This record gives sequence, structure tokens and C-alpha cells, in this order.
Amino acid sequence: MSRYEEVKTQLKSEPKIWLVTGVAGFIGSNLLETLLKLNQKVVGLDNFSTGFQHNLDEVQSLVTEEQWANFEFVEGDICDLETCRSVMTTDKGQKINYVLHQAALGSVPRSINDPITSNKSNIDGFLNMLVAAKDAEVDSFTYAASSSTYGDHPALPKVEENIGNPLSPYAVTKYVNELYASVFAKVYGFKTIGLRYFNVFGPRQNPDGAYAAVIPKWTAAMIKNEEVSINGDGETSRDFSYVENAIQLNVLAATSDDSVKDEIYNMALGDRTTLNQLFRSIKLSLEKYGIAYSREPLFENFRRGDVKHSQAEIQKSKQMLSYEPQVRVDRGIEKTSLWYIAKSN
Ligand SMILES: NC(=O)c1ccc[n+]([C@@H]2O[C@H](COP(=O)([O-])OP(=O)(O)OC[C@H]3O[C@@H](n4cnc5c(N)ncnc54)[C@H](O)[C@@H]3O)[C@@H](O)[C@H]2O)c1
Repeated sequence: MSRYEEVKTQLKSEPKIWLVTGVAGFIGSNLLETLLKLNQKVVGLDNFSTGFQHNLDEVQSLVTEEQWANFEFVEGDICDLETCRSVMTTDKGQKINYVLHQAALGSVPRSINDPITSNKSNIDGFLNMLVAAKDAEVDSFTYAASSSTYGDHPALPKVEENIGNPLSPYAVTKYVNELYASVFAKVYGFKTIGLRYFNVFGPRQNPDGAYAAVIPKWTAAMIKNEEVSINGDGETSRDFSYVENAIQLNVLAATSDDSVKDEIYNMALGDRTTLNQLFRSIKLSLEKYGIAYSREPLFENFRRGDVKHSQAEIQKSKQMLSYEPQVRVDRGIEKTSLWYIAKSN
């Protein structure tokens, strides 16, 4: 039995109390779904800045009534310290065991257009969450870090200890998170674990708006037979990872033993897919489900702040947390395509 299976069995027999911030967002709502299906109690916080009530409604439709009754939702902003403190206990006064902090404003271009707003949620809000969680003496604080922290470091694959200079305000915010988390571990002995997400994708990732990520944006456009554009020559590569892998690593990190304090781990598949490959892969998976996309992509300029290639070394996550990513890119794209097709009907 894998470590993840063992942990899930243990959690089912002894349910814990989790706080998921950013719970109405893409990754947050997927964490919520898994935790509720494991009969965990979950407090969720979100201000709906980029998250949606319909993500929560969908989770409700996928779990039993008893499981949904284990969820408490608080609409609020992590920029408010008192709000952060208030979600460190359930409405019955039970203490949170594990924090999975996902709330932040994602997107490199968003941060380039409006660095102040990204800074507020991603740094001020993050610090509020750290202070509130540390004061509430939760067992662990696992947070969404980012591969953007590797910045201009040329090495591939990316190894946790070798980072370069940040290339965007967003990357600065995610790096500052790591610095604060590390200092809180050293100064207060508070257990913090940063998961440097590479490109995570899957159901409930928002396909709309100027800051949409490439997989939801392209999949939704291709279903409608609309044009998709590629920034650059299409040979830009990323380590795309299906959301189930991110959930596994969050659960393993949060419940890891206390020898793991103040650590950073790559959250990825350890693989590299170019945008040209990705385009073909989405096209093929849609064909499988009877949707023929006949157009060619439009090639545009490279985006500011983007790195050309990205791929993670995931040895540390495997060794220290027994992480075993289960879903390869093509399978993840199939599952994701199915979800977007269902949503488009
Ligand atoms: N998706 C990826 O590929 C990826 C890659 C690297 C890092 N991350 C990080 O993972 C986390 C989750 O990202 P996601 O892709 O699910 O994005 P998302 O936008 O779908 O989710 C973020 C959620 O946080 C909420 N939020 C934002 N600011 C808030 C605030 N001030 N107070 C309360 N709630 C707030 C939003 O409303 C949203 O529901 C983020 O921290 C993001 O930076 C994601």
C-alpha cells in the first residue's frame, strides 16, 4: 500500500479538521472535494475574488449530504487578520489541525498589470494567515508556493535549493512567502511546508478572462471551435500536472511527521510538455470525445515575465513525503477535456 493510501485510511478512521483557504478556487475546491470524500471536517475561506460559488455548488453535488454537513464556509478576506483568526476554529470551537493555504492572486500578467493588489493578497494576506495559524497552534501550515520562484535560474530540471532572480511581481510575492514561512519555522518552531506548484490543471480551473491558464483557455476555446493563440514559437515548455497529484502532495505534506519542518517541495510531474505538444494533445483528446478541431493555432509574441522552459526535479518530494504522482499529462488532459465538454453542454 502506498503512503498516500495509508494516510487516507488513517484519516478516514480518525478524521481531522482542515482549513482550506481559496476554497472556492480551482485547487481549493478540488482539495475540498477530496477531503470531504474522506469524511474530514473542513473550514473554507474565500473572498470570491477569482473563485466562484458554482465551484462550491459542484463539490456539494459530488459528495453525500453527511459529508457536505462537515463543511463550513466563511466568506472573507485574508487581508483581514481578524478574519484569519476567526477561521482557526470551527463554529463549535474545535481547533484546526491542518491549514492548506491556497488563497492568493495567481497569474504573472495580473501581477505585472497590478502589482499592488497581488502584493496585498499574496504577501499581507499570507503573513496574516501565518500569524493566525501560528497563534492558534495548528499542527501544520502547508501553502501554495510557486515554480515562478526559480526565476531566471537556468538549470533544468529545477532542484529546490537552486533558485534565481524573480522575473515578475507575482514571483516576488511567492518567494517572500517562502522567506516568511522559513523564518516562522526558525523563530517560533512553527511547522510550515511550501509546495512549489508547477503548472497545475484539471476540472474547475477558470477558462475565462485575461488571466486564464493555458489548458482551460485552449480546451474551452477548442470545444467552441474558436481560435487559440500560442505565445512564442510553441517550443516553450512546462511541467504540467493534473490536480489530483497536487492534492496527494498537500495531504502527504500536511500529515507528515514533525521531522519535516520548514521545507519546500516541488509539486509537479517531473516531465516537460511543449505548447505545441499540448495543443496536439488537447486536440486528440477532444477528437476522442467526438469534437473535431480544424483550426491551426495563431503564434503571437512571447509574454513578459515568462521563462522559456520549466521542469521540476521531484526526487525530494518522492523521498521525503512518499509522493507518487498518479496521473500523467495525457490522461489528465482527457479527464479535464471531459469536464469542460460536460460544462459546455
Ligand atoms: N494553478 C497553478 O498552476 C498554480 C501554479 C503555481 C501556484 N499556484 C498557487 O496555487 C494557489 C491556488 O491557485 P488556483 O490555481 O486554484 O487559483 P484560483 O484563482 O482558482 O484560486 C485562488 C482562490 O483564492 C481566493 N482568494 C484570492 N485572494 C483572496 C483573499 N485576499 N482572501 C480570500 N480568498 C482569496 C480566490 O477567490 C480563489 O478562490 C494560489 O496560491 C496560486 O498562486 C497555482
